Amino acid sequence: MSVRLLSTSPLVGESLQALGNSFPELLVASFRSPEWNAALISAEALVVMLSETITDSDLQSAPNLKVIGTYSVGVNHLPVSECAAKGITIVNTPEVLTDATADLALALLLAVTRRIAEGDALVRSGTWNGWGPEQLLGTSLTGKFCGILGSGPIGKGFAKRVWASGMKPLFWDRESRGGTVDFGAGSAPRLPLLEMLQQSIVLSLHCPLTEATRGLLDRNALLRLPKGAVIINTARGGILDEAAVIDLLETNQLGGVGLDVYANEPHLNPKWASAPRTVLLPHLGSATVETRTAMSSLLCNGIAKAFGASE
Ligand code: DGY
Repeated sequence: MSVRLLSTSPLVGESLQALGNSFPELLVASFRSPEWNAALISAEALVVMLSETITDSDLQSAPNLKVIGTYSVGVNHLPVSECAAKGITIVNTPEVLTDATADLALALLLAVTRRIAEGDALVRSGTWNGWGPEQLLGTSLTGKFCGILGSGPIGKGFAKRVWASGMKPLFWDRESRGGTVDFGAGSAPRLPLLEMLQQSIVLSLHCPLTEATRGLLDRNALLRLPKGAVIINTARGGILDEAAVIDLLETNQLGGVGLDVYANEPHLNPKWASAPRTVLLPHLGSATVETRTAMSSLLCNGIAKAFGASE
């Protein structure tokens, strides 16, 4: 069969099927399975997940390719400049996952600072002996500075949420711009990176992984944070030096870490399993029914539009 649309997974909702009906043939086959490999040669559009890296050599094997759709806002797993050079359109899913991801970042922050996972485990263990004045003491957020790496929609959405919790947002962005950021509920300064880190008792990552942000938070940068700072990462693992973070947790320099993303997912640094004061999630930033349905629709409409434009 001549495959026009090749997806590595069904998507939430009906959009992919509907797209397959309008632009046959649709094949759903696991990433790099023999079926997927064989279908690449005739594929005009690929749909991939954020964990599936497409290489320049895949583009060479797909001479008919016009569109790559990714079921994510992040495009760091795609050969963006090679696609541009070959006239291949990339379709991603911005905006529709802003609230879901900002919500999850806030959930991680509260889980770390209020020791939610430990409390849950204590109650379930059957060993809880009742309320105690010093039991599972956490850290308050009110009045403290929250550094936000990235002043795009998700960073602003997170700022709105921590502002509602009484925190004072501070921004840094990749362009190192100054001025202030209007995050919807108020405005906050945009500072040079080291200046922002020095004040941030909470630091949350909301920028894409690019050559400019890869390894940005290395040991030296992390040591600028106040002692006891909490880091939340719902962006991409490669921005943060994970080995340094684990070390700084073990030496009590960092107060806690909440992660939804990791370098080299799903193959985690084994030290995370025993790292103290951490809450670890399996990349759930956009994982609500409403958000994933909206992502499917946005992605499939974008692919249809790209097909329409090229026909
Ligand atoms: C994305 O879509 O790129 C995000 O990582 C979702 O969590």
